[in-house]
Amino acid sequence: MSRTVFVLNGPNLNLLGKRQPEIYGAETLADVEAACRETAAGLGFDIRFHQSNREYEIIDWVHEAREVAAAIVINPAAFTHTSVAILDALKTFDGPIIEVHISNVHAREAFRHHSYVSAVASGVIAGFGTQGYTLALQRVARLIHAG
Ligand code: DQA
Repeated sequence: MSRTVFVLNGPNLNLLGKRQPEIYGAETLADVEAACRETAAGLGFDIRFHQSNREYEIIDWVHEAREVAAAIVINPAAFTHTSVAILDALKTFDGPIIEVHISNVHAREAFRHHSYVSAVASGVIAGFGTQGYTLALQRVARLIHAG
């Protein structure tokens, strides 16, 4: 059984810490990656952590995950609300998918209320700040052990 979990991040998340800190907080994506690595190590996971501003790269990582990963944690950022292509890629993945949003998208603009990705997610975490990522990894551990 694979112990690899892909943690995928969509557009503009490379600017975490600088971008609208009143919404997304002061932590950088490097801080999030470090927290994920620490949590993953405790859970016995090997993680692959990626960010891209390009839709096709996220799709390619989902395809790669099909071959090697037990689960995917994904914050698709703005692609959440627009990307049928990422949804279709995720539909080809057999393991658990956890969708993460740092902010509470439901308390924001109406266009953020719909997610294409939620249709294939085992669960969705929104509004827990960057802690949502480590909570998602803990959920993955539970889902994988139950399987
Ligand atoms: C986000 C919410 C999205 O609506 C937004 O486009 C993002 C980040 C979040 O983590 O809260 O870029 O996914």
